[in-house]
Amino acid sequence: MGQSVPTIAPGQVARVWSALLRGLKEIAARLSASRWLVVAVAVIMVTLTAAAGLPPAIALMGFLAFVASVALLHRYESEAFEGRLPYPAASAREASAMQVMAEALPDPVILLNASGQVLSCNAPARSLFASLREGNHISSAIRTPEFLDAVGAAPQRGRAVTVTYAERVPVGRRMAATVAPITRGLEPGSNILVLLRDLTEGERINQMRADFIANASHELRTPLASLRGFIETLQGTAKEDSGARERFLPIMVEQAARMTRLIDALLSLSRVEMNAHVPPSDLVDLNEVLRQARETLEPLALENDIQLEVGRFPQPAIVRGDRDELVQVIQNLVQNALKYGMKGGFVRLVPKHIPSLGRQEGRYAIAVVDNGPGIAPEHLPRLTERFYRVDVASSREKGGTGLGLAIVKHILNRHRGELMIASNPNKGSTFTIMLNEVRSV
Ligand SMILES: Nc1ncnc2c1ncn2[C@@H]1O[C@H](COP(=O)(O)OP(=O)(O)O)[C@@H](O)[C@H]1O
Ligand SMILES: [Mg+2]
Repeated sequence: MGQSVPTIAPGQVARVWSALLRGLKEIAARLSASRWLVVAVAVIMVTLTAAAGLPPAIALMGFLAFVASVALLHRYESEAFEGRLPYPAASAREASAMQVMAEALPDPVILLNASGQVLSCNAPARSLFASLREGNHISSAIRTPEFLDAVGAAPQRGRAVTVTYAERVPVGRRMAATVAPITRGLEPGSNILVLLRDLTEGERINQMRADFIANASHELRTPLASLRGFIETLQGTAKEDSGARERFLPIMVEQAARMTRLIDALLSLSRVEMNAHVPPSDLVDLNEVLRQARETLEPLALENDIQLEVGRFPQPAIVRGDRDELVQVIQNLVQNALKYGMKGGFVRLVPKHIPSLGRQEGRYAIAVVDNGPGIAPEHLPRLTERFYRVDVASSREKGGTGLGLAIVKHILNRHRGELMIASNPNKGSTFTIMLNEVRSV
C-alpha cells in the first residue's frame, strides 16, 4: 500500500509564490534605495585591493556581506533617509498635512514658509483678510511691524511667540497672533505657523463690564452722598431746627427711594440676563398685558396731565412669554412716554396684528406713541445701552435710572421679539415692540 503523498493545494502554491515575489521586490527596493552606498563600498573595496594589497577574496567577501546586510536589514533605515529628503519636498508634504489640520480649526490659521510667503491658509483666515493669497508675502495682508518682526525672527528663534497688535483697516480691531516656527531638530528653513485670534469682542465685553460697574456705583453714590450730607447736618448745625428737619426729610425719603429704584432695576436686569437663554414657555394674551399696564399707569398719567389711550387687539393675541416681564416692557415704555412726553398731550398704545406672510410668522405689534419733544436721531442707536440718557439731569429729576430701555431690550431678546424706535424731534416718539404669534393653541 503506497503512502499518501502530502499534497499541496494550488491556492497554497500561489500564496507561497506571491510571498516570494513580495520578498524579492522588497529586497530590490532596499538595494535600489541604497544603491549609491553599495557603489561607494564597491569602489572602496576595489581601491583597498589595488592600493593597500587587500586580498581580492576578502574584499569580495566584505562587499557581499555589506550587500547582504543592506538587502536583509529592515528598511526603516531607508525610510528615515527619505524623511531627510531635500527641504522643498518635505516642506510641501508638511504644508499639505498642516493645511488639512488648519481647515478643521475654527480660528484663522496661516502657514508661511521661512521667508514669510503664504503656503496655505484656512477659510476663517481667508474671510478675515480679503487680500490673503497663496504665494504672496504675508505683509500684503498684515502690515503691522510688530507682527512682521515676529515672523522675520521666527526661524532663528525656534519657539512660538504671541504678539498683540491693533489694526485700523479694514475695520478697527485688536488681534493676537501666535507665530510658531515648525522646527524638526535643527533643520534650517522651517515653515511658520500663524494662529490669529480677534480680541476685539472680548475686550469690548470687559470694557462694558468695567463701565457698568463704574456707572452703577456712581449712580448709587450720588444719592448716598446727599443722604449722608443731610444726616450730618441734622446731627450738627440743624440739630434743634425743626424747620430744617421738615424740609430735609422728604428729600431724604426721595434719595432713598432713588437708590431703591436703582437697585430694583439692577436686580431686574440681572434676572432677565440670567434667563436670556431660556425662552419663556407660558402662553400670554397681550390684551391682558395691556389691561394690566393701563391699570398701573393711569395714576401716573393723571399726575402728569397726559391722556393715556390704550387700544385692544380685536381677538385674544396669544404669544409665548413671561407675563410679568411683558407687563414690565409696556410699563417702562409708557412710563418714559409719560415722563418725557408733553404735558397736556397724549400717550397712545396702538396694537396691531401683522398676519403671516409666506414663511414669515405672524406677529403682534404694540406701538407706544407720544407727542412729546422727540429724540434727536444721533441718540436713537444708543438708547438701549445701560445708563444711556439723552439728558441725565432731566432723567434723574423724573426718577429715571437709565436702565429702563436696557431692560426692555433684554426682555424682548429673551422673547425673540424686537424693539423699533422712531422719533421726530418736536413731533414725538414711537417705540414699537414686536412678538411672534402662537398660531395653534
Ligand atoms: N418717549 C420718549 N421721549 C423722549 N425721550 C425718551 C423717551 N423714551 C426714552 N427717552 C430717552 O431715553 C433715555 C433712556 O430711557 P430709559 O432707559 O428708560 O432710562 P430712564 O431711566 O432715563 O428713563 C431717557 O433718559 C430719555 O432721554
Ligand atoms: Mg425709563
